[in-house]
Amino acid sequence: MMIPNLEGYFREFVPMRDATLMALEEEARQQEIPIIGPVVGELLYVLALASQAKQILELGTATGYSAIYLARACEVSGGRVVTLERDESMARRAQANFQEAGVEHRIEVTVGDALQEMAKMSGPFDFIFMDIDKENYFHALPYCQKLLRSGGILVADNVGFQGADNFNQAVADHPEWRPVHLLCLLPLHSPEQDGLCLALRV
Ligand SMILES: C[S@@+](CC[C@H](N)C(=O)[O-])C[C@H]1O[C@@H](n2cnc3c(N)ncnc32)[C@H](O)[C@@H]1O
Repeated sequence: MMIPNLEGYFREFVPMRDATLMALEEEARQQEIPIIGPVVGELLYVLALASQAKQILELGTATGYSAIYLARACEVSGGRVVTLERDESMARRAQANFQEAGVEHRIEVTVGDALQEMAKMSGPFDFIFMDIDKENYFHALPYCQKLLRSGGILVADNVGFQGADNFNQAVADHPEWRPVHLLCLLPLHSPEQDGLCLALRV
């Protein structure tokens, strides 16, 4: 026997957020900014802490919601987050939100195209969170391979979008990745069924 209304039931377990995160959720709802929401936020926090990640790279900052979760894990681990955003005004908003959340000392926002910025970086990172245009996931994968240490974790959001298809195939086919694709329907996340990919850098 299954628990009835499983989504509603699980929704009760979504952890409480502080005023900054709640305000960002409301703003995202009103302005249709596609943020990860509290379930994936919590997942990132738990994964970053469990993997003892100290050097974290994020692709796609938007208003900084997901980066705040990652930075809060870094408060525990003593680590830092580098987050890449091509929209300068979004990056400015994120910077203000990091200050409001009290995590600005843990995060560096770089304005630019994620692929071009990654090409210039040397790493190594322990953890990468990918949340840019889905069509670019495939092109970002070789850079993730270069920048993520062996044993590090790549988390790619929204891999249920068609634009992520060639990424999904590539990460599954490549011997240096050990991916798991999760089907999910998450409160305050995607409006429909979507997927998350967690991939271990072998
Ligand atoms: C889905 S939103 C990120 C949401 C954020 N990770 C969160 O959950 O709070 C995607 C963001 O990535 C940025 N973006 C898309 N493609 C990019 C690229 N190639 N390089 C840098 N930023 C990109 C967009 O401007 C947008 O702000």
